[in-house]
Formats: sequence, structure tokens, C-alpha cells
Amino acid sequence: MDYIGLKEYLRAERLCVDKALDQAVTLIESELEPDIASAIRHGVMSGGKRLRPILCSTAYRECGGQAENNAYDLAASLEMIHAYSLMHDDLPCMDDAELRRGQPTTHSVFGEDVTMRAAAALIPAAARQALSSARNLECGALGATEVVQELLEAAGAGGMVGGQWLDLLGEGQTLNPKELDELHRKKTGALLTASLVMGALSAAVDKETVSALASYGRSVGLAFQITDDVLDATQSADLLGKNPSDVDLDKSTYVGLHGLDQAKEHARERIVEALSALESIPIDAPILSILARYVVERER
Ligand code: IPE
Ligand code: IPE
Ligand code: MG
Ligand code: MG
Ligand code: MG
Repeated sequence: MDYIGLKEYLRAERLCVDKALDQAVTLIESELEPDIASAIRHGVMSGGKRLRPILCSTAYRECGGQAENNAYDLAASLEMIHAYSLMHDDLPCMDDAELRRGQPTTHSVFGEDVTMRAAAALIPAAARQALSSARNLECGALGATEVVQELLEAAGAGGMVGGQWLDLLGEGQTLNPKELDELHRKKTGALLTASLVMGALSAAVDKETVSALASYGRSVGLAFQITDDVLDATQSADLLGKNPSDVDLDKSTYVGLHGLDQAKEHARERIVEALSALESIPIDAPILSILARYVVERER
């Protein structure tokens, strides 16, 4: 697959993910007051790369999973957690951002109180979404509990929520390389890793393959956040669809600690690691290997 092929692949995958997300959001809308429901729709259906669900559906397929349409429903649960994390991340008490995905942030449109509640409602909704969809995949009802556990652990205090806390504590601090790695691996790496593991577990592959894909996910996840730091330091709001803010907020970033060139080099090293994890397993995973490179070569 070349660059044009990848672009087309990502476009087609995004359409399938968006369809599953639209159904999930429609279900939540039927259960909530209209203002909360509109905030959820704004936060979830606002574009974005959809990388976490695409990693999940790709891992599922490359592990031999056959029930593609149900896999997008599972993949949607990851984006629901991601969308909630962005809604909170942009709040004034966190990164205080006005622009996300080229649009006003959810709280800029609906207010802080509605946004906090709308984002919180996405957490149990995502768990329900993951459980009901994983049951219909090769892992069956028993395996589905393990799939949901992966999602919740990655999203929780030992993963994304914990990492976001470290990120806030890291403002104005000089973290050492180990501390910065932990921050990035938790706030972003954990959910990316879960995307791969959930895809693999739901296809019911062997333990060695699941653990190799987890290792690929850890490397790609760290590379993804390093690249986010690099893009924040080098790209415009027009291109990113969000305002670069790491310097203004005095965030602890790879660029701040290691400099731009070293940060890029760290990200590339993580991709070499990710590719070697993929090579250690007997399955053919050509698209995951292309996606690893995309994570560091992307422009937004
Ligand atoms: C932004 O994530 C937040 C980070 C964890 C770096 P993405 O770069 O995946 O944002 P979208 O979903 O494409 O908008
Ligand atoms: C956000 O990291 C990580 C999340 C878990 C949402 P950033 O704060 O760097 O993400 P952006 O740059 O605002 O997208
Ligand atoms: Mg942040
Ligand atoms: Mg932010
Ligand atoms: Mg950032």
C-alpha cells in the first residue's frame, strides 16, 4: 500500500467508524436531555483522525477476525472514551482551549457544566458499547469481559486519567526523561495500546500475538504523543485544527525536554521498536506496519 492507498484506506475506515459512532450517539441521545445530547454529538461527531478505532478494526482484521461490521461497533467505544477525554482536556480547568478539530470546543458552545456532564456520560456509554459489541465477535461473551476490562483499565487512573493528572502536575516543572515517558505512556499510550489489544482479543488470537500487539501499541502510543508535541511546536492552528499551546501552558513535552530533533528521533526509534514487535508474530500485518509509520509522518 502506498501513500494514496493509505489515504483511501483511512478514508474508508473513517466512514465505517463514523457510522458506528452515529448509531451509538443516537442511542445515548434517546436517553438524555437535549442540551447534554447535543454536546455529546458535538464532541463525538466532529471529525478527527479516528486513529484509535482504526487501529482496533485493523488489528481485528489482521488477526483473522471476520465480523467486520460488529468490529466497528467495538472500535467506536474507544473513540467515545477519546472524545470524552478531549472534551475535558479542553476545559478551562485543564488546557483551556477554544478550538478543536477546526471547530469551537464543546464548552465554548454548550458551556462548562453541560460539557462536564456530557463527557462523563460517555464513559459508561462506552463501556456498554464495548460489552455489547464484543459479545458478537469471535471472543464470545466470556472473552468480551476481558475486552471491556482492557478499555476501562486504559481509560482509568493507571492509564489516561492518571496521565492527564500527571500532565497537569507537570506544568511549569522540569520532569526527568523517565517521568515524562510515564506521563506520555499513560495519558495517550494506554488507550492506543488498548485499541490494539481489544482488536486482537476480540478476534480470539493466541496470547503471544496479543502480547506482541500490546508491545507494538506501547511503542506506537508513545510515538504518537511525541509527534503531538512536535506538531504543537511546529504547525499552525489552521493545519492542526487546534491552537498550539504547550509553550504558553508551560507543559512538560518531548520538545521542551529533548529539543525538536531529538524528539523526532525518539519517535522514529519507537516506530522501529513497533515494527520489530510486529515481525515477532506469525500473522501478516501489513496495514499495522504502514499505520506505525503514519503515526510519526502525519501532518496533523
Ligand atoms: C489528540 O488526539 C489528543 C492526544 C492524545 C494527543 P488526536 O490527535 O488523535 O486527535 P483527533 O481525534 O484526531 O482529533
Ligand atoms: C491530551 O494531550 C491527551 C488526552 C488524553 C486528551 P494534549 O493536551 O497534548 O492533546 P491536544 O494537543 O490538546 O490535542
Ligand atoms: Mg492536555
Ligand atoms: Mg490539550
Ligand atoms: Mg498536545
